[in-house]
Formats: sequence, structure tokens, C-alpha cells
Amino acid sequence: MTWLITGGAGYIGAHVVRVMAGAGEDAVVLDDISSGVPRRLPADVPLIRGSAFDAELLRRVLAEHGVTGVVHLAARKQVAESMAQPLRYYRENVGGLATLLEVVAEAGVRRFVFSSSAAVYGNPPDVDLVGEDTPCAPVSPYGETKLAGEWLVRAAGRAHGIGTVCLRYFNVAGAAAPELADTGVHNVIPMVFDRLTRDEPPRIFGDTHPTPDGTCVRDYIHVSDLAEAHLAAARRLTGGVTGDLTVNIGRGEGVSVRELIDLIGEVSGDRRPALVEPVRAGDAPRAVADARRAAEELGWTARRGVREMVESAWAGWCLHHAPAPRD
Ligand SMILES: NC(=O)c1ccc[n+]([C@@H]2O[C@H](COP(=O)([O-])OP(=O)(O)OC[C@H]3O[C@@H](n4cnc5c(N)ncnc54)[C@H](O)[C@@H]3O)[C@@H](O)[C@H]2O)c1
Repeated sequence: MTWLITGGAGYIGAHVVRVMAGAGEDAVVLDDISSGVPRRLPADVPLIRGSAFDAELLRRVLAEHGVTGVVHLAARKQVAESMAQPLRYYRENVGGLATLLEVVAEAGVRRFVFSSSAAVYGNPPDVDLVGEDTPCAPVSPYGETKLAGEWLVRAAGRAHGIGTVCLRYFNVAGAAAPELADTGVHNVIPMVFDRLTRDEPPRIFGDTHPTPDGTCVRDYIHVSDLAEAHLAAARRLTGGVTGDLTVNIGRGEGVSVRELIDLIGEVSGDRRPALVEPVRAGDAPRAVADARRAAEELGWTARRGVREMVESAWAGWCLHHAPAPRD
């Protein structure tokens, strides 16, 4: 078995590569380094620099490396950018994926794991836990492209006999090591770090939601747990399970923005009070995964808690934002 991991030099991809290679799986990474960092990769995992949507290159990589399964993470992933550049998101996240699936089908590769997102649910209805059968109603072109991506993956899987697993990640955080940390400022934890580093108070968008402390409740998942979910998905497919599976990857436990900011204050030592801004239109009060299907079908459950996510993310933030040494 050799796994092609697209986007393997990215934040999540590099964790997936480490976990899979560490578990004895052969891996090869295809990454155009548009946001990836080559030094995140172990020295013995080959990195091919190029687009995961370049059919010629893909044919060559699949053949030369004897690829038997694909874990597809390469994508554009910023919600705000997707609002401004929807066509680019559709072209890469949907059009590019169609090209990849065509080459995969034609090459006889029969296993495919896809990075989806809780963004497919949009603002989920007022339920305690969001199950996989909750109606999908994405509210951004990004979420739409992830949902359309799932449709493509499942349809191609059925038509071409490819076993598929779509993983719907909830709020990903933390790092296995500081040098693997997320360097972007697109998620709430790095956004709070960024505010503190600028000597500004963290912001809370609304404390009048119908939640215990009035702030939004979300489900945070440690990136190392998420990487282990990919290994579990890959093993399910190599174990001969066919058909398609779509699963939430979360902890099934909610953490409020207020609780998260308090924890960040404890970990960083900067406990300045948060600034409460008006509620943002469209923010769901609560979005917490029902994680039971992943446990049943993949034999996977998250093991790491929110403190571990914040501590490891903070260590990574400090590494990447250390003041420049003087002379
Ligand atoms: N980070 C999150 O919170 C989150 C949540 C849900 C889903 N996801 C999904 O997880 C996946 C990985 O996200 P991430 O946070 O690691 O992002 P990232 O930007 O760190 O990683 C994406 C990687 O893909 C590479 N890439 C982009 N376009 C490419 C292309 N055309 N060909 C080859 N490589 C390409 C980039 O260079 C980068 O290494 C994405 O599909 C994203 O939509 C992320």
C-alpha cells in the first residue's frame, strides 16, 4: 500500500503524514506549497511539488510510486476568501477534485479519503449534537465546495468501485510539535493569540446566545486526534471495507468562546478581559458533533482535551512569533 497525500505539507496534512508514516504506511506527498511548508515533512517521505489537479503529473505520480490509496487534503479553505473569490473555490475545490478523481479512477486506485468540513452544515439547527444526517445547508462558497466535493467523491466511488471516506472536521486546533503548528490566523484560537500579541483584548461576538454563558459553543478537535482519524479511515479501506462512509470528526463536547478565552488567558498568562461585541448575524449558538458514527465505523475517538490543544497551539505561536533577536 502506498498513500498519496495531497496537501501533505499543510497544517493538517503534515500531521496526517506523520501519523500514517509512523504507523508504517508508505506515503508520498503532492503539494504545490501555496500554503504548505516542506520542512514539516519527515525526511523519508517524498515530496512532489506540483498541483494535485494537474492530470499529467498525477498520472505520473500514481504510476511511479505505485499509489493504491489517496488522502485528499489539498484545497482552498478560507471562508471570507471564498465569498470574494467563489469561482476560484469552485475551480480548485470542485473542478480540481473532479480531475483528481478521474485520474484515480482511470489508474485503478480503489481507496479515497476526503477532507470535508463541518462547514457543510452551515448554521446547524438548534440541536444538542449535529449528526451526519442533519440537513446540509452551507452558508459560504467554501462550505458549498466541500459539500459538492463529498457528492463527487461518493458518486465517483459508486461508479468506479472506489471505497471512500469523507471526514467532516469540526474546529481543528493544536499541534503535535511547535514546528507543526498552524501559521495562519483563520481560526478562533490563533485569532485570540493574534489579538494578545498586538496588545489588544480578545473579542467575543455576542454573549446573549441561548447557551450557558451566552457565548457560542463549538466542538474543538486536536489535530493529532484528527490525524489518527485519517489513519483509521485508511485502515478501514485497506481492510477491504467498500462503499462510502461520511463521518463527523469532533469530540462531541461543547466549549464556549468564553471558556476558551479563559483557558487561553491561563495558558498564555495574559488574562485581560475580553471585549464583547454585538452578536454576528448567522452565528449558530451551538455546533457540536455527534461523534458516535466515527467511533462505531472507524473505531476512533478523540483522546486529547482542549487544554492540550491550547497549550500546544500557544507553544507553536510563540515559536513562530518570537521577537527577532537583537544583533
Ligand atoms: N484547518 C481547519 O480548521 C479545517 C477545518 C475543516 C476542513 N479543513 C480542510 O482540511 C484540509 C487541509 O487544511 P489545512 O488547515 O491543513 O490547510 P493548509 O492551507 O495548511 O493546507 C493545505 C495544503 O494544500 C496545499 N495545496 C493547496 N492547493 C493545492 C493544489 N492545487 N495542489 C497541491 N497542493 C495544494 C497547500 O500548499 C497546503 O500545503 C483542507 O481541505 C481544508 O478545507 C480544514
